[in-house]
Amino acid sequence: MQPFYITTPIYYVNAKPHLGHAYTTIIADALRRFHMLLGKKTYFLTGTDEHGDKIVQAAEKNGCSPQEYVDNISSTFRDLWPSMGIQYDHFVRTTDESHKKCVQAMLQKVYDSGDIYFGEYGGHYCYGCERFYTEKELENGLCPQHQVKPEYIAEKNYFFRMSKYQDWLKQYILDNPDFIRPERYRNEVLSLLDSGALEDLCISRPKSRLSWGVELPFDTDYVCYVWFDALLNYVSALDWPDGEKFSTFWPGVQHLVAKDILKPHAVFWPTMLKAAGLEPYNNLNVHGYWLVRDTKMSKSLGNVVEPLEVAKSYGLSAFRYFLLREMHFGSDASFSEESLVARLNADLANDLGNLFSRVLSMTGKYFDGVVPAPAEYTEADEEIQTLAAEACRNYVRLFERVRFSNALESLWELVRALNKYVDSSAPWALHKAGDTERLGTVLYVLLECMRKVAVNLWPVMPEAAEAMLAQLQLPFDVACVRLQDEAEAWGHLPSGGTVQVSSSLFPRVDWDKEKQRIEAEAAATASKSAEKPVQEKNADSEPEGYAEFEDFQKVELRVGTVLCVENHPKADKLYRVEVDLGEQKPRQIIAGLKEFFAPEDLQGKQVVIVANLKPRKLRGLESQGMILALRTEDGMELLTSSNAVPNGTKAS
Ligand code: MSP
Repeated sequence: MQPFYITTPIYYVNAKPHLGHAYTTIIADALRRFHMLLGKKTYFLTGTDEHGDKIVQAAEKNGCSPQEYVDNISSTFRDLWPSMGIQYDHFVRTTDESHKKCVQAMLQKVYDSGDIYFGEYGGHYCYGCERFYTEKELENGLCPQHQVKPEYIAEKNYFFRMSKYQDWLKQYILDNPDFIRPERYRNEVLSLLDSGALEDLCISRPKSRLSWGVELPFDTDYVCYVWFDALLNYVSALDWPDGEKFSTFWPGVQHLVAKDILKPHAVFWPTMLKAAGLEPYNNLNVHGYWLVRDTKMSKSLGNVVEPLEVAKSYGLSAFRYFLLREMHFGSDASFSEESLVARLNADLANDLGNLFSRVLSMTGKYFDGVVPAPAEYTEADEEIQTLAAEACRNYVRLFERVRFSNALESLWELVRALNKYVDSSAPWALHKAGDTERLGTVLYVLLECMRKVAVNLWPVMPEAAEAMLAQLQLPFDVACVRLQDEAEAWGHLPSGGTVQVSSSLFPRVDWDKEKQRIEAEAAATASKSAEKPVQEKNADSEPEGYAEFEDFQKVELRVGTVLCVENHPKADKLYRVEVDLGEQKPRQIIAGLKEFFAPEDLQGKQVVIVANLKPRKLRGLESQGMILALRTEDGMELLTSSNAVPNGTKAS
């Protein structure tokens, strides 16, 4: 059986892990567990992408060296995964010596084969994306990702002859329908390849501009472009060019990414592999984006979902189940705690949890917890067995094709049918009627089907599945399960064994109470951040602490002269100040300056005003702007102009 090798993107270390990173890594873990249960040898790789401009900027901002900075954030990713039930085999870092050596070996190989050449290039460089854009790719002259104007840079660089492989790539995708899946992304790549000639890829950056990268083996004045470096993690982690790991696992490789990084994975990477004489990967599995309130998660919107917090609130199993069940692989999905709780209550507490607690407690009550032996099966029992076989078959087929939501749905058809079967066969009535034989058969059918459900669920929620199997007194052993045989399997639960009636697997969550807790926490966080002096960063993929230029431009700073200063009638610490901003009427500004300035210190002075601050009432009086001041160790100083300027002069 061919081994299975699964990878996640290696994540940038300029932001902390959030729901999106957790999703990809959790599905990688689920897939790896699933393939283990098919009896395959598996290898699961994740890691961090640590080179490039952004890292240098973020390190500078944090007052540390790039290496210290990447060590720190990389470990937050590495340490988070085990607490999400994720068991990876290797955590690769692009700053690992072994990775750098591999990148250099690959560069040399492609250079020697003539597919890397030196040339001059002028292009629109977006620092956020760390890449050049062609005129055509820009949206109204702006970077399509960051909506900022890129800088035009012309310089000498090394290029990978990607264009040479365009026809080959197109044909390969046409010949291998599952190479990029789901189909919509395959079509996207095909239309990109049809839309015009592929350009060669600029794969170097001059050290004069960026030194935090892997040095080119054939020119020490340059470092490698981050994407060329990063993509190679998938082979460096297998010790390419030598090593047994590569020959064992590469033939079974599948990548997992979201749609944001489709092009590097669907175009750069296969052509790089082809140029180096390596086999292409088997599948590129592309998922959509998790949105929050229908928008992209971003720190400035305050809607970034912290995966560990959610898992702590609702349990890891419910969290993992929700992610796999809610998102239809390939499409975007919306995350909200309310929909998580709705699924938890409906699918886990009502359907699955109820089934387990009802059947186990009846086994306890009617058979002292001993698994009864089945007698003759009736038509109803056979129907359920057929349904169970069908559900298991569909589950395996769909899961293998990364259609997690559909796979779980088909398993839930069985779970719901089992609950109905409990109702229609009414074990309590059989018990009352003294029909122990029939009662035993019904309970056996249920318990055996519950075993099937539990083993199938192990890849999705290992903790809960193991707890379910423990209730059936079946120790879980990966080596003993073959999911592909589960459809035909019957009678694996030994009669005569005992079951354990323990606490409920998935307690119901009261959403109204949860909502109150969430709102209280949000209010506490909001009041905390109101005390914070520094404005948070704008986009989640950018270094923290920066404001976009456009944001800064929104603020209108003007110089004005203080005309009069009075005490606020209702507040001890506030002045009512009138300022001439060169407008028709002076502005009334309510200022908290009383502690530091006497009225005569202010009167007649030119001050800098935030002139377009939304007016608001302070203790009953409207403030139409804000006077800027500097807080010093022993008080405050006014921000003013070095020479007198006309009132209304704008700061820029
Ligand atoms: N470093 C590159 C990848 C190099 S791989 C050779 C990179 N890093 S990243 O930190 O930006 O991670 C992008 C990936 O994180 C996405 O492809 C996806 O796997 C995951 N997600 C980040 N945000 C996401 C959502 N909002 N929703 C779903 N997953 C997303 O790109």
